Amino acid sequence: MASQPHRVHLLANKNAIITGGTTGIGRAIALSFLRHGCSVTVNHLDLDRDKQHLDSLIAEADTIRAEDPEAGRLSHLPGDVRQVETAASLVEHGVQHGGTGDSTSACRSSHGPPPIPAGGSIIGISSISALVGGAQQTHYTPTKAGVLSLMQSTACALGKYSIRCNSLLPGTIRTQLNDEDLAVDAKREYMEGRIPLGRTGVPADLAGPAVFLASDELSGYVTGAQLLVDGGLFVNLQ
Ligand SMILES: NC(=O)c1ccc[n+]([C@@H]2O[C@H](COP(=O)([O-])OP(=O)(O)OC[C@H]3O[C@@H](n4cnc5c(N)ncnc54)[C@H](O)[C@@H]3O)[C@@H](O)[C@H]2O)c1
Repeated sequence: MASQPHRVHLLANKNAIITGGTTGIGRAIALSFLRHGCSVTVNHLDLDRDKQHLDSLIAEADTIRAEDPEAGRLSHLPGDVRQVETAASLVEHGVQHGGTGDSTSACRSSHGPPPIPAGGSIIGISSISALVGGAQQTHYTPTKAGVLSLMQSTACALGKYSIRCNSLLPGTIRTQLNDEDLAVDAKREYMEGRIPLGRTGVPADLAGPAVFLASDELSGYVTGAQLLVDGGLFVNLQ
């Protein structure tokens, strides 16, 4: 009898919410979390142009589950993360999807204040742009520095609840954000020439680092940290 490939489920019994998760980096992280046994709720803007991405993500998640019954289950919920109420509805939906909704709401109704959360991991997608300037980036770099700073302060605020908060800092990762730019040979070759590993990144390059930061076993004492995922671009001053 042919043996099954060894499967590692580093996030078994965990439950994740991933914003902007139908495309690019968020999607790659969602798929990897599912493979590692994590229930995933993906948030998206419900745009007509993105329906194809949502549909193909659902199909991909179904295939993963068909091949591995221990893989996580996917759910999705539309919502604009700029709206405060999106966060509340995402958490409520995510908790229900992960199967812990009943106990949480039961505790709340019968014993007063909600219970202290049993830990967790928040991963902010910052950028290499949080650490460097760019003449054409004055609108962008402060926002990514803001994400980095937010994760540092939330790490301080939420440590007492055993919630770890860290940032991933992608370098140049080919997604719909920069696809047009990198389709220009001269621009792509210039970028590749600056990256010690000799290539621009793909969304899946962020998946392993995200699994690491989500796993208590692997990164249980890591909080307030930042991890560059840039092929070495930041340290290449030459
Ligand atoms: N691609 C890169 O080279 C790169 C480098 C550094 C950092 N980043 C960061 O990575 C993150 C993901 O970018 P990506 O490259 O995967 O691009 P992407 O466009 O594929 O992903 C962004 C997703 O967020 C969704 N989104 C946008 N506004 C939203 C809102 N208000 N509410 C809910 N969803 C919303 C978009 O619809 C899209 O699905 C971004 O924060 C980006 O700044 C990307």
